[in-house]
Amino acid sequence: MGHAPALIARRLEFLSSLPSVGQVVEVRLGPIPAYVVTDPAVAHQLLVPGDRDYDRGRLMTKASAWFGDSLLTSYGTAHQQQRRSLRSAFTNEQVASHVDHVRDSTTALVESWTADEVLAVDEQMKDLALTNTAQSLFSTDLTAANLESLRLHMPALFKSVLFRTILPSGLERMPTVGNFRFKKAMRSLDGVVGTIISARRARGEDAHGDLLGSLLAAQDDHGHGLSGRQVRDHVMTMLVAGSESTAAVLSWALYEIFRNPDIARRVREELATVLAGRAPAAADVSSLTYLNNVVSETLRRYPVPFIMRRTLKPVRLGEVELPAGAEIVYSPHLLHHDPRWFPQPRRFDPDRWSPTGHGAATKGCYLPFGAGAHVCIGKKMALVGLTTTLAVICSHWRLEPVAGQRIREVATGTVHPNRMPMIPRRPAADAREQTG
Ligand code: HEM
Repeated sequence: MGHAPALIARRLEFLSSLPSVGQVVEVRLGPIPAYVVTDPAVAHQLLVPGDRDYDRGRLMTKASAWFGDSLLTSYGTAHQQQRRSLRSAFTNEQVASHVDHVRDSTTALVESWTADEVLAVDEQMKDLALTNTAQSLFSTDLTAANLESLRLHMPALFKSVLFRTILPSGLERMPTVGNFRFKKAMRSLDGVVGTIISARRARGEDAHGDLLGSLLAAQDDHGHGLSGRQVRDHVMTMLVAGSESTAAVLSWALYEIFRNPDIARRVREELATVLAGRAPAAADVSSLTYLNNVVSETLRRYPVPFIMRRTLKPVRLGEVELPAGAEIVYSPHLLHHDPRWFPQPRRFDPDRWSPTGHGAATKGCYLPFGAGAHVCIGKKMALVGLTTTLAVICSHWRLEPVAGQRIREVATGTVHPNRMPMIPRRPAADAREQTG
């Protein structure tokens, strides 16, 4: 079993214990050795010079059965080519239009909340993040029925995808309830995505200016458009990569803002000064300095737990010689919780990111979006989307954590809360209570 039981039962604690062992630590996942990078300089060496020496590792190789050949699963020259052809899908105009979708759907959501009624904030954020990603992909082609189908089937995919990448392949073909649900979800998602793509292709126009329009207009290095299969693979990848990670960060940010009255007050004061009651637009995001620091700190405290690579040939990584085929793990969680780079790492402190704070002083110690050839292509979209969503929610409500609930960090593909019940209260009523 090797270190698998410790990794399953206490994933985050186990990862955080490894820097005391060495720069690159060998752990055993059953019979398979994996090498965990614990040092920022080595993480930088792994990620930044490009990926001639590595593929995406065991998990992503297996995930290509479901997400196809896309940015998340490809490497080397094929990956560089995909990145170039997708550049037009992530321009500043796309980011600005994403902010508009995010602002409008968040406003609709917060207007549907009722004061004093307990909300499952984590579930609400999952729904919101999926809606926003889907709207940025499909804009007007996203019908209520399509969205409903995505909402229904994406959770089944997220729930079992990591587990399935770890399972021996034979088990996936057994007639279990989990396998049945997963296959049904995949079929349904493929159906929705396929229908939208075919309808758009059949109309042969792109007045939409959305991500799907950019994918349909994208060309490879030889001037050829993407095939139907390639477009489908990229769309599925964006839906998966863009929504669950964003939802987890939003839930944690709201939790931290509202359990720290001083942080909540500073956020509200900044919103009142910068927006003065207006809804936020893309141009406002850079002026929301403190809220951006809250986002940076949430991405530090609750990042992706681990990401894998695999050596294509013998490689020297830090002080360790690795053979071809070695599985490597880099862990933003581990690096972000090392007290050498972030003193009192479990403390949530947005002022780390202020001009007088320590920030990420060491290269490679802060990797919420990865780095190098595979740095998150949606990083800018995610950052402005996170700040915009939080600005809208915090302008409308104060969310009070429900007393007596223990909120735990659950590490799967992201670190998400086990639950997050909160009660919306009107900020204006709070102000009156305090002055009255
Ligand atoms: C808070 C939100 C997000 C976080 C924390 C996040 C995190 C990451 C990280 C850590 C990686 C690097 C993976 C690696 O090293 O292999 C990555 C890659 C990627 N992300 Fe994100 N991401 C977020 C939002 C998004 C969004 C909104 C999209 C798209 C709409 C997106 C699409 C992708 C894609 C396609 C890749 C693969 C890039 C490549 O290998 O070229 N992500 N993301």
